[in-house]
Amino acid sequence: MTAKRRILVTSALPYANGPIHLGYVLEAVQTDVWARFQRLRGHECHYVCADDTHGTPIMLKAQAEGLAPERMIADVHAEHSRDLAGMLISLDHFGSTHSPANEAVCRRMYLTLRERGFIERRTIRQAYDASANLFLPDRYVKGTCPNCGAADQYGDSCEVCGATYTPADLKDAVSVISGTPPVDRDSEHYFFRLSAFEERLKAWMAGGAVQRSVAHKLEEWFAQGLKDWDISRDEPYFGFEIPDAPHKYFYVWFDAPIGYLGSFTELCARTGLEFQDFFAPDSAAELHHFIGKDILYFHALFWPAVLEGSGQRRPTSVHAHGFVTINGQKMSKSRGTFITARRYLDLLPAEYLRYYFAAKLGTGLDDVDFNLEEFASRVNADLVGKLVNIASRCAGFIHRSAGGTLAESLPEPALFAEFAACGAPIAEAYESRDYAGAIRQIMALADRANQYIDQRKPWLIAKRPDGADEARAVCTQGLNLFRTLMIYLKPVLPEMAAKAERFLRDAAWHWDDAATALLGRPIGVYEPLATRLDPAVVARLVEPQSPAAATPAASAAPAAATGPVTIDEFARVDLRIAKILAAERVDGADKLLRLRVDLGELGERQVFAGIRAAYDPATLIGRLTVVVANLAPRKMRFGVSEGMILAAGPGGPDVFLLSPDAGAAPGMRVK
Ligand code: 2FM
Ligand code: ZN
Repeated sequence: MTAKRRILVTSALPYANGPIHLGYVLEAVQTDVWARFQRLRGHECHYVCADDTHGTPIMLKAQAEGLAPERMIADVHAEHSRDLAGMLISLDHFGSTHSPANEAVCRRMYLTLRERGFIERRTIRQAYDASANLFLPDRYVKGTCPNCGAADQYGDSCEVCGATYTPADLKDAVSVISGTPPVDRDSEHYFFRLSAFEERLKAWMAGGAVQRSVAHKLEEWFAQGLKDWDISRDEPYFGFEIPDAPHKYFYVWFDAPIGYLGSFTELCARTGLEFQDFFAPDSAAELHHFIGKDILYFHALFWPAVLEGSGQRRPTSVHAHGFVTINGQKMSKSRGTFITARRYLDLLPAEYLRYYFAAKLGTGLDDVDFNLEEFASRVNADLVGKLVNIASRCAGFIHRSAGGTLAESLPEPALFAEFAACGAPIAEAYESRDYAGAIRQIMALADRANQYIDQRKPWLIAKRPDGADEARAVCTQGLNLFRTLMIYLKPVLPEMAAKAERFLRDAAWHWDDAATALLGRPIGVYEPLATRLDPAVVARLVEPQSPAAATPAASAAPAAATGPVTIDEFARVDLRIAKILAAERVDGADKLLRLRVDLGELGERQVFAGIRAAYDPATLIGRLTVVVANLAPRKMRFGVSEGMILAAGPGGPDVFLLSPDAGAAPGMRVK
């Protein structure tokens, strides 16, 4: 094995004013597969992200909802954490840019940039809404395009002719907030001297930090000349005040990427990692950012320059991907194709989407189309028809006729060796983020495994009076081929891989285990690892939704009213063992306790439970109980409840929480 690498990876920070949608899930899956792959290879890989919480849109949205921005971003943080956990994104820390840790890093980096002469003050003229008393970001001014005359265009560019300009160039401009014409007003702003970094950025790019197509884009930007960057905004602004500059705030795009460091600082505090090991200018650790192609300028120009200017290392790589389209078209709320992670998870298992996205993710910037029909047929053909089929065809025989124990040797060691030898090119594909290439190779091997079983027909061999040993050997071969494939797929399908580990009674897999066969050992009883996707359920992803139908409880209601619950309906309820980490009374709610529970692999959740009359909160801490983990979150007056504690009894003081027997652990499924 190669030397152990130390790696920090990030996904771009989702804005804290909207839900996680499939576009963001693509990025989180791309990052997560890479992080899981590195860990599976034995490297040290930390994955951090955070909510992007600052700026005018978030401030105005909170105002419109009558909430303090801190309240709004806390609720969104809970929703984002839950949805990312639902998608099996293995974040080591999911922070917030509105954190003391991030503020401290922002101040430190800004002061270093200032000391080194990279910050300049300049007076600029900007659109101001005199009735709302605020400076207007470009997108908050609308008017007629000065180039083509199209009406109702934003202040930065025309969607009709593509011209770019400033709000002052628009004709008949009005503020989007008040509808009044903006006035021009002077204000002193703080600029980061990006232009001082041109040569250093060119050298960084030449070292292979970005994809080739991105390098071409950067060359165009270099040719246009790098403009210094305004990193300040006037109050009112939801953000961090700039040191020694009262009423001036860091622009959200200054503190957002610094949020990677803020979040990592919190991870260091929790785990004892050394921040400087990863960010000192001569750090040997790797730093990889996964982003969408729309935010390249920020990540491939401003960000390496800000890092270097503040005396830190630059990213090892910035890797950009394309957008998600739905059935070939841009996601759109009005067309009903703006699919949120929550909507998806209410209907379907995360791993099917992870697999589909991985199978379509190459190394470039092309958009990734989520085609609903192709999705269903691909999952059914590959995961159910090919992969899981290998195990289900072989496992039953080992149990029925071989005492549940694998044979002592493989009948076709050369075939197994071929599968093992593919580990190197498959690893190379994952490493270079060519997941589509990795999946292609894995599925070609799955075809080979199925061919082997088809040719040998263990079900016929077993019928021969002397066929037991041979059938056992063939099934042992089949299960070992399956095991090798599952190890290769573990970064994409972590839950299926964990189930397969349990079924084979194997220890948690590492990449290298793929090359060693499992022989002469008892295995567990096979339970289906994946079931066929019903295209009718997939179609529901883009069905118009009434607010009530958006919750699983509401969508299950008609079935409950008309007959018994089917096993499939029951299976959709995700019951988990939870450990109560914190419990407190809720001011203003005489029945409720606010609980923080640990759901193992699903992370931590906040749950409100009407058990205050029955339990002293202090007595609950540390106890295990049962929680409905996939209940749609409910916004309550006191915050979002992200699950439901199960309890028995009529109510009031007579409420009894359920307790599992010894041996149960947080996150275990209750079936
Ligand atoms: O474009 C976006 O969605 C931003 N919230 C991404 C920020 S990524 C990083 F810079 F923090
Ligand atoms: Zn125009």
